[in-house]
Amino acid sequence: MAMNPPYDIEQWRRRIPLLRTHIPMNNCSQAPQTDATRAAAERYLESWNGSGMDWDAWMSEVALAKAEFATLIGAEPRDVAVFSSVSEAASAVASALQFSGDRRTIVVSEAEFPTIAHVWLAQQPRGARVTWAPVHDGAVDAAAYDDLIDDRTVLVSACHAYYMNGALQDTAHIAKLARRAGAYTFVDAYQSLGTIPIDVATLGIDFLASGNLKFLMGIPGIAFLYVRPGIVERLQPMVTGWFGRANPFAFDAKSLDWSPTASRFDTGTPPVINAYIARAGMEIINTVGPANIRAWLVELGQRLIDGGRARGLTLHGAADMRCKTATTAFVVGDSHHIESAMRDRAVIASARGNVIRLAPHFYSTIDDVDQALDTLADAARTA
Ligand SMILES: Cc1ncc(COP(=O)(O)O)c(C=O)c1O
Repeated sequence: MAMNPPYDIEQWRRRIPLLRTHIPMNNCSQAPQTDATRAAAERYLESWNGSGMDWDAWMSEVALAKAEFATLIGAEPRDVAVFSSVSEAASAVASALQFSGDRRTIVVSEAEFPTIAHVWLAQQPRGARVTWAPVHDGAVDAAAYDDLIDDRTVLVSACHAYYMNGALQDTAHIAKLARRAGAYTFVDAYQSLGTIPIDVATLGIDFLASGNLKFLMGIPGIAFLYVRPGIVERLQPMVTGWFGRANPFAFDAKSLDWSPTASRFDTGTPPVINAYIARAGMEIINTVGPANIRAWLVELGQRLIDGGRARGLTLHGAADMRCKTATTAFVVGDSHHIESAMRDRAVIASARGNVIRLAPHFYSTIDDVDQALDTLADAARTA
């Protein structure tokens, strides 16, 4: 086992003040603040305070945030639109689809975060039919897609990683099935992006969405959507606004001139302060490098699996790091009670349903993992 990551972890740890007092194992929910993200927020406040208004600088910061996101997923900045949440991004995608004739099915995995499924279900009055790829033993039954995807499928919605336990889906294979059937693929990468390399072109997917507060080291209130350049010009989202225009600053109320790039999915004034912070967070991930991060998280994830087993904890889902992120879930009784008991001992875990999720990140150490497991085992024993 490699006991050190392939980067200077101590240098990064010094930049996260929360580590002086806590062990954050809740990166699947909210990553901690860094000196860089704090400085980015202050840069916006200074700009607002010092100049009153600087739209050119603010818009270029939004463009730089899109570019940073594009770098993370192997895309171009023009392939990226900005939203305030992943739900909003999915709604915009749904609004660009037609549900008519024989092609009206959306294939949805049962591992989707509920908000994504809700957006697809909300299309039923427009003619959509929703079918489900089932979850068994904490993972989506991959073979189910073979039967579910056919020439009636409009879109396949497959999260990259399951929010409950980090189980990964083979989105390249799913996209291949979808494309062969003439359907689009939408990937929610909120629980994986920042922990593992992702290249949208290699995956062959049409849409990828993620917010920023989890493994991208950012905050709520901003999310990004990748739209494959080959499809963008045939899509006209009904969720739109002036930033979706070819020239937003033409102020022409009577012309719906669609931007030729993914920015046709942009809507209104973007979340500017969030873009400052999001860019700084994603810059950290791009600097450390998703491949380096994955290498370290495979070690930490294995430590969680083995250490949980050794302490008598019950794992939720697969024990194989080849098909999961480092987010590792343990079945407990009252997860919210246990989360709060752990917080009293300075370990921040994340409760979901009947599980406690322990989600380390690139700055986490073996010692963090061991202490978190000890604290969870104690809390579970005394609950
Ligand atoms: C996989 C996943 N998708 C989507 C969301 C929610 O997205 P939003 O609140 O930005 O719509 C979450 C979690 O909070 C999530 O874990």
